[in-house]
Amino acid sequence: MLRSVVLGTGSMLPARAVPNAELEGVVETSDEWIRQRTGIEQRYIAGEGETTVSLAEGAARNALAAANLTPDDIDLIILATATPNNTFPASAVQVQDRLGIRHGFAFDVQAVCSGFVYALTTADLYLKSGQAKRALVIGAETFSRILDWTDRSTCVLFGDGAAAIVLEARPSETDDASAPGIIATKLRSDGAHQKKLYVDGGPSSTRSVGVLKMEGREVFKHAVGMITDVVEAVLDDAGMSAESVDWFVPHQANKRIIDASAKKLGIAPEKVVITVDSHGNTSAASIPLALDCAVRDGRIQSGDAVLLEAMGGGFTWGAVLLRW
Ligand code: ACO
Repeated sequence: MLRSVVLGTGSMLPARAVPNAELEGVVETSDEWIRQRTGIEQRYIAGEGETTVSLAEGAARNALAAANLTPDDIDLIILATATPNNTFPASAVQVQDRLGIRHGFAFDVQAVCSGFVYALTTADLYLKSGQAKRALVIGAETFSRILDWTDRSTCVLFGDGAAAIVLEARPSETDDASAPGIIATKLRSDGAHQKKLYVDGGPSSTRSVGVLKMEGREVFKHAVGMITDVVEAVLDDAGMSAESVDWFVPHQANKRIIDASAKKLGIAPEKVVITVDSHGNTSAASIPLALDCAVRDGRIQSGDAVLLEAMGGGFTWGAVLLRW
């Protein structure tokens, strides 16, 4: 049987970091309000020439270097984004071209903040079925370009960035939770919640891009329950307990949601990877950015059980459990 094993991670952030204090000059807000309500201290904002595709390319190259591979070794690219460079072609195909890959296939996945979990689940299915050998799974966003910079309730929350993971299909004697690779995945969505978090434009409805709209309190109200349900389902599938998880790498939307979810699941605070303080909410990029941080600073080690979860617009939500 085949198993999707992680070979490396990489990331790319825009050059400019924007601390909370700088936003005090943009909308009526304060560093204190933003820190207290969200845990965010700064975010990165893409400048001239920095796009979802350029950040994704940088992240992909860094992940390939970490995996000791060249672009030619990749035959599948799945890029999760809600902020593609163009309506079409897919940003994944544009990254494929920039990397000079002339074989295999590439496509985008759109599940907003759950995008990386959806993309990873999809890549796992292609690898396990033998339809691809090595995959680049990328989360890349430039949310700064779909924000209403006069709306203080949303513009302070998000940031830009990209990160990637390289997976390889490897033969495995067993598919139990002790073997390296993706152990279990679980995806959910419920479109009844679409108006709580959405962008009010699009090619077929308004012929425009639109801006992000969110009922923050409503999202908050559903987040912890949805996250903990899907995490419990994925742990159940794997026959594992929350205590046996070494690292919890949640979508980085809000520190209060992360803390409450970890507490409800019974995961100790020292096992939780937090980057929302320095990145803000980077939507589909937030989980791979956090993963790359924890790999590069030596926290995540070979053999560790790593639990990923996300919840976002749609609503969409999901979880992935893997053995590093
Ligand atoms: N600065 C100062 N005051 C603000 C700001 C701001 N940036 N934004 C809102 N306020 C004010 C409001 O106007 C309100 O004032 P009022 O009481 O005079 O009307 C007050 O702060 C409280 O507003 P609430 O919205 O009730 O604040 P809350 O405690 O709910 O925090 C927040 C808002 C941070 C958005 C919270 O609801 C939240 O985190 N929700 C979840 C959002 C989220 O995680 N979204 C992403 C998940 S999905 C994805 O990642 C795409």
